[in-house]
Amino acid sequence: MPIDTAPAPIAPPARLLCGPGPTNVAPSVLEAMQRPMVGHLDPDLHDILLEVVDMLGRVYRRDPQDGFTLPLSSTGTAAMEAGIANLIDPGATVVVGVSGYFGARLACIARRWGARVVEVRAPWGEPVDGAAMADAIAAQPRVRLVAVVHAETSTGVRQPLDDIAAAARDAGAFLMVDCVTSLGGIRVDTSADRIDFAYSCTQKCLAAPPGMAPVSLSDRAADHIRRRPRPATFALDLAALHDYWIRRPAAYHHTVPVLHIYALHEALRLAHDEGLEARWARHAAAGAHLQGALAGRGLRALASDPAVQLPQLTAIRVPEGVDGDAVRRRVLREHGIEVGGGLGPDAPAMWRVGLMGDNANAETVDRVLAALDAALAAEAERPEELAIA
Ligand SMILES: Cc1ncc(COP(=O)(O)O)c(C=O)c1O
Repeated sequence: MPIDTAPAPIAPPARLLCGPGPTNVAPSVLEAMQRPMVGHLDPDLHDILLEVVDMLGRVYRRDPQDGFTLPLSSTGTAAMEAGIANLIDPGATVVVGVSGYFGARLACIARRWGARVVEVRAPWGEPVDGAAMADAIAAQPRVRLVAVVHAETSTGVRQPLDDIAAAARDAGAFLMVDCVTSLGGIRVDTSADRIDFAYSCTQKCLAAPPGMAPVSLSDRAADHIRRRPRPATFALDLAALHDYWIRRPAAYHHTVPVLHIYALHEALRLAHDEGLEARWARHAAAGAHLQGALAGRGLRALASDPAVQLPQLTAIRVPEGVDGDAVRRRVLREHGIEVGGGLGPDAPAMWRVGLMGDNANAETVDRVLAALDAALAAEAERPEELAIA
């Protein structure tokens, strides 16, 4: 393209986003991003920041007397890194529960920050065994951090936290929990579960655009971070971020994404307007509707036990003889609906259907099912050589 020409304005297609995230955002969330820009040091913005922090703390069920909650200007991955970088020093022992792709990512990040990582693995479709985690923790002389994924997006499995939280507490270790897919969709209670560092993202059950990562710390974790003689990360220094987001007058740390903050404010406002318990119940009902209909079609969930099946993310095994990727492509191209496939090289063949935020409703489920039925039927009739690219 010659140097002085510009392409036409973009015109992305309208999609129904029913994959593992991002999900669609409500019209009022999009509209919030069109409000006037202000500067990151504007006192009027600082009032908005405090409202975001307050609403997020309540979504995380963080006791207002305990620690603090704020969103990072990043996605979930940097929030994983923030927890590890702020809570451990090189050589520290970290016990990680790995029941899928994101547990493995946690272990990988901890290694990059110099941790001695002990992994406790679970087969695809199962949560990590609480007793095995407790044994692994007890077998180490000193564990600094125990990390698990609450809602493993690569499998659709919920990780029970009770035994792991108790074992971490007994060992005096910090408990870090990935709430990326759980926050806003199923019960998360950082104070009751004594979670020292929880992190999430905005593009899943909170239904805001991707680009921010809410984190929530206990007092214990916050004190540790404040007392560290040599903080390891600047961009993700949680003590410095606290002094911008929460302490007044605000101390500059970086230029925050103002329009994303407006969007998050609106998404959180909608969540609180609905009520958290009602929101969890809506996700539960939508998930049950989908999972019942899939079972009725003879399709099997990856989750080995319905008791740990997430409502907001259902991983379905692709039946023998079906080209799962071709079906997904048809669902996207012919029906405008995004669903996910398997994640990572070891993943079994699967479809991952997300019902997050506003998409957790029976009408959306019925649209996904109709598209899946049509795509499966079309694939069954397709001659071998006519694959959709
Ligand atoms: C459980 C879990 N953890 C971490 C991440 C990483 O988040 P992001 O893609 O926002 O960096 C994801 C993303 O899907 C996830 O599902």
